[in-house]
Amino acid sequence: MKRVALIGGTGAGRIVPETAHSRAVTQTRWGRASAATRVWEHGDLEVVFLPRHGEAGAIPPHKVNYRANIECLRALAPAAVIGINAVGGITPPAWPGRLVLPDQLIDYTWGREHTFSDGANAGLQHVEFDPPFDEALRSALAQAALAAGVDVLATATYGVTQGPRLETAAEIDRLAADGCDIVGMTAMPEAALAREAGLRYAVCAVVVNRAAGRLAPGATIHGDMGQFLDVALGHAGRALRAWFEMW
Ligand code: HPA
Repeated sequence: MKRVALIGGTGAGRIVPETAHSRAVTQTRWGRASAATRVWEHGDLEVVFLPRHGEAGAIPPHKVNYRANIECLRALAPAAVIGINAVGGITPPAWPGRLVLPDQLIDYTWGREHTFSDGANAGLQHVEFDPPFDEALRSALAQAALAAGVDVLATATYGVTQGPRLETAAEIDRLAADGCDIVGMTAMPEAALAREAGLRYAVCAVVVNRAAGRLAPGATIHGDMGQFLDVALGHAGRALRAWFEMW
């Protein structure tokens, strides 16, 4: 049976059907994965879901054990891994509620365990990281979104910030000047570790707010999130279910 894996961010647990069963939290040589995985079958496909921020959603972006999460999935040899990431929209086409499939990223994070090449436990690798997301997977997701009638922005640059605080308007202006369309806190080092692990990886980003300094008059980031998280995740769920049908 073919298997695919999802690493779900904020709110993404609602994509998991009630019939899914749990597998024990994986202990790896890099420590414990964020949580137990949830597993279900979609036709002939096995889908494995790992909640990035733990069962209670309490692990902050800079404390996620990205290495353990990727190692846990690597051991299952999935045909593809999709990260589901809530993000802020910077440029006008990345409007709140929209599904975005980034094709590029800029890493602004620091101090995270960001490689398996730690000089002790694994051999040194200088992986090629351009493009940072699997292009075939990205275009399959774009096709699936189209088939599901979900509007999608199929290319974008994802700026990955350290968090957990949100950005200042000046920081968002800088990201915009760098070419970022969306901003989030979790695509790195996840994407680079997936590359090191030899996994096909892409991101389904859901825009849940306008970024700092880009808000509508009177709006707040948390207010935007309350308004747009459900609709954005609904779009991701529909696109992903259409993608499951394509295997
Ligand atoms: N900035 C950073 N990360 C985020 C945002 C944001 O505006 N929204 C959701 N994740």
